[in-house]
Amino acid sequence: MTKAEAFKRISELSEVLQEHDHCYYVLSRPLISDYEYDMLMKELEALEAEFPALVMPDSPTQRVGKDLTKDFQPVKHQFPMLSLANTYNEDELIDFDRRVQELLEQGDVEYIVEQKIDGLSMSLRYEHGRLVTGATRGDGETGEDVTANVKTIRSIPLSINKKLLAEVGADSFEVRGEIYMETGDFKKLNEERIGRDEKPFVNPRNFSSGTMKLQDPAIVAQRPLKIFTYYLLGANLPFKSHEENLQALQKLGFRVNPAFKKCNNIQEAIEACRLFEEQRDSLPFEIDGAVVKVNQLSRQRQLGSIAKSPRWAAAVKFKAKQASTLLREITWQVGRTGAITPVAELTPVFLAGSTISRATLHNLDEIQRKDIRAGDTVLIEKGGDVIPKVVSVVVEARPEDSRATQPPVICPACSEPVFRSEDEAALYCQNASCPEQIKAKLIHFASRGAMDIEGLGDAIVDQFVDKGFLRTFADIYSLKDKRDELTTLERFGQKSIDNLLEAIEKSKEQPFSKVLFAMGIRFVGAGAARKLAEQFTDIDALMQAAEEEITNIYEIGKSISASVSSFLADEKNRDLIRCLRESGVNFSRGERAEIRNNFFTGKTFVLTGSLQTLSRDEAEEKISLLGGKATSSVSKKTNYVIAGENAGSKLQKAIDLKVSILSEEEFTKLLNDIIAV
Ligand code: IVH
Repeated sequence: MTKAEAFKRISELSEVLQEHDHCYYVLSRPLISDYEYDMLMKELEALEAEFPALVMPDSPTQRVGKDLTKDFQPVKHQFPMLSLANTYNEDELIDFDRRVQELLEQGDVEYIVEQKIDGLSMSLRYEHGRLVTGATRGDGETGEDVTANVKTIRSIPLSINKKLLAEVGADSFEVRGEIYMETGDFKKLNEERIGRDEKPFVNPRNFSSGTMKLQDPAIVAQRPLKIFTYYLLGANLPFKSHEENLQALQKLGFRVNPAFKKCNNIQEAIEACRLFEEQRDSLPFEIDGAVVKVNQLSRQRQLGSIAKSPRWAAAVKFKAKQASTLLREITWQVGRTGAITPVAELTPVFLAGSTISRATLHNLDEIQRKDIRAGDTVLIEKGGDVIPKVVSVVVEARPEDSRATQPPVICPACSEPVFRSEDEAALYCQNASCPEQIKAKLIHFASRGAMDIEGLGDAIVDQFVDKGFLRTFADIYSLKDKRDELTTLERFGQKSIDNLLEAIEKSKEQPFSKVLFAMGIRFVGAGAARKLAEQFTDIDALMQAAEEEITNIYEIGKSISASVSSFLADEKNRDLIRCLRESGVNFSRGERAEIRNNFFTGKTFVLTGSLQTLSRDEAEEKISLLGGKATSSVSKKTNYVIAGENAGSKLQKAIDLKVSILSEEEFTKLLNDIIAV
């Protein structure tokens, strides 16, 4: 075969296979047998092997890349990925409609109501009809490049043929949608795992998002992930309504959930939401609400956005799903701060995508208030987060031998006496050597939002602490010297050890703010840690700061500053920090941030127009936090005018006075560079 002939056949085969992918994965209407499909694929693979120069990036053979992704690179979204304002009842939805009508100065508004898929949002960029990037939402401004994994999802077209592009009238655009897994597939997968004595996954959503972050696309390809697309964006698209956008997506070959409803007014939209809520349990995938969107795109533009959400759409959150089950026992769990909290041990019950066998009971007061006893039948619920809670007791079902719980007087993990302060409902174990506390601290230290040490999860920490390999955070960094001993551990092969040690090395580069968060100082969450790192260049500066100086930082209250000061005054903690520093853990913000930090210092800024990604108050706060001043009128003394959408006379004045102008994008970039210390 000549190269020209091969080119022709490769193109034909690619197109035919693509068409079959569409029929099978998007339309669920296969036209040929699996065998016939495999034969075509084999022919294409053979030709590409013979003519490697003819392998196109969007060839059906390229769905599963062979290379592992080392790091997911950041991708700046061309249009910020906004989130939706939530409404929790029909009155709130009516309020939303009233605001829309007022802003548009019109009566009834046409809405499209969609099911809100409980998955992971994804942005897909197509250029000249080819998929070029798949990115996660990230913080809405910048996501992670997961293209290699996205390509393995067969219902996502790798390229779109020219004829269809011409019909739609555009060849470069962005498509957004939700990646998810069907409940049936998820259950099957978990049954298989349980059969192999492996821990089941928590729920389809976490599983899908975890899968998209895997480094090996070959594993991603084996998992039956799907996508529903719901958003088409781009310059010069010819469509006038969201409905037309959805139809165009379908025409271009994307999967669109057919269950959307066009409604002439808010009452019809409410009806549609009710219907979706009724259907919820019979759908093959999980939804956690409905989304109501203004249909006309010109109206959407007119409404614009505030802070991080569009004014033209609202999420309607469904009531949390509940289930009843038997509370077999109340046990007590020791957390990383030493807080001892009650846990309900339940007869396992399936609820909203996962099997639940434990639920939090918060504290002793809560147990007494709700009169929860062992032996009770209880109603449990999954709220916004994954941890389920006990809502109430089914009193009618209470057996005679139900048992009220007694708070422990000794710590269930180390048997030291329990401490209970007068004003707090919580109980504490004050023993710094308590093994459960140590484990919980280490798990927090290694977690994704902190030092991000992949592979140092619950099970490994348990084992390492029990075997005496780990006691303090510093021990993590000397694990590399115990390599030989580690190999003696069960279920811990050479490869796992290499990966773990590599992840530990890498964690030394975590930014100062994450290191501060990882230390597990009481009351210092991720947000407070970031603020502390914004204010203090390194741990020495923070150690030298008076408690009052810390309290003066915006949004850092007295309890946080007192906790930070006493933590840093403790000699044991100082030793620990010294050790970690010697191992190479990063306790300073580094020069890069400092130099840029000066950008705002002493300068005057005026904000005009509406910003898409943060409110005006937030923007002003950030400027002043970084040493700048935000004023309301433009003068020659103004250093910068930050111009948002629909900026008016102030922008004109800035141009007249030759004051420098920053776009929202430039402004947020400066902020992000500084804040990511
Ligand atoms: S529209 C600007 N439609 O819900 C609004 N979102 O906070 C863009 N989601 O991040 C979102 N199903 O991940 C939209 N039919 C749907 C959706 C949906 C699920 C997710 C999406 C978004 C979050 C809203």
